[in-house]
Amino acid sequence: MKVLVTGASGLLGQELCPMLDEIGAQYWATNSKIFDITNTKMVNEIIQKVSLDLIIHLAAYTNVDLAETHPNEAYKVNHIGTKNMAKIAKKLDVPIVYVSTSSVFDGEKRSPYKITDKTHPINVYGASKLLGEEEIKKYTKKYYIIRTSTLYGKYGSNYVDAMLTYSMFNSNISVVNDQVLSPTWTKDLCKEIIKIIVNKKPYGTYHIASKGSASWPEITEQIFKVKKRNIFVTPIEKTDFPRPAKRPKYDVLDSENLLPSWEESLKEYLLTK
Ligand SMILES: NC(=O)c1ccc[n+]([C@@H]2O[C@H](COP(=O)([O-])OP(=O)(O)OC[C@H]3O[C@@H](n4cnc5c(N)ncnc54)[C@H](OP(=O)(O)O)[C@@H]3O)[C@@H](O)[C@H]2O)c1
Repeated sequence: MKVLVTGASGLLGQELCPMLDEIGAQYWATNSKIFDITNTKMVNEIIQKVSLDLIIHLAAYTNVDLAETHPNEAYKVNHIGTKNMAKIAKKLDVPIVYVSTSSVFDGEKRSPYKITDKTHPINVYGASKLLGEEEIKKYTKKYYIIRTSTLYGKYGSNYVDAMLTYSMFNSNISVVNDQVLSPTWTKDLCKEIIKIIVNKKPYGTYHIASKGSASWPEITEQIFKVKKRNIFVTPIEKTDFPRPAKRPKYDVLDSENLLPSWEESLKEYLLTK
């Protein structure tokens, strides 16, 4: 199986590529330097020269706050870049995996978001990723849109690692208490992506995030509990820590208990730290 992976140098891509090796796939791991998805001319030229069986499209503009102040750049990558990838999938008649986000929802619900729930993003990142979803659906029926949430893992900057570092120098940490969410381990998500590919699951949209949910202060306390660090976590209001992008208050996907609970996975991840 010949696979093109965009965004392979990111948090998720670096976790996924070794798993593609394990299933015997031949893959091209690309980043923005060697395969800029927004460069339509270059993308089309390269694609004429390769034969593929699958596209795994992970490349994205992922800085949620910077997206508010640089919306053109976020839309260029997440909307136009994804449109380019969708057109290629259509042209080559190959399936495309597109990793999307729980941020396509507004967070006003109080129970986990189902695939059939109405999308309504409240920040530029969510809106640009939703436009990406729409382009994928417009150009091909052979798609896997995989929505996930709040990733952490060993291959890139993330909240869990940031807290571990921060706690080396601070014994009292203030954490914004404005969201309920399901932190998701990249390893768990990648295993499911691999299952979808190998088992040729039905095309469509999937929600894949950890089971259960918690607030940021609860998640932070859990990190320090597992690591046996005596750190005092103080919940603070979001007005005490203003950020450019609005966040969905309830950022939880209904993944039908596909993944382990966020506590179990966090514990396993932290054992490696
Ligand atoms: N991280 C999360 O919490 C989270 C949550 C939900 C969904 N997602 C989605 O999951 C996917 C992977 O996220 P991630 O956290 O792994 O992202 P990441 O660590 O920020 O990595 C982004 C990747 O996209 C590439 N990229 C950016 N602009 C590009 C361009 N114009 N052309 C080609 N490649 C480009 C980057 O390449 P360079 O290294 O060259 O910059 C990098 O490989 C994304 O689609 C994201 O929206 C992430």
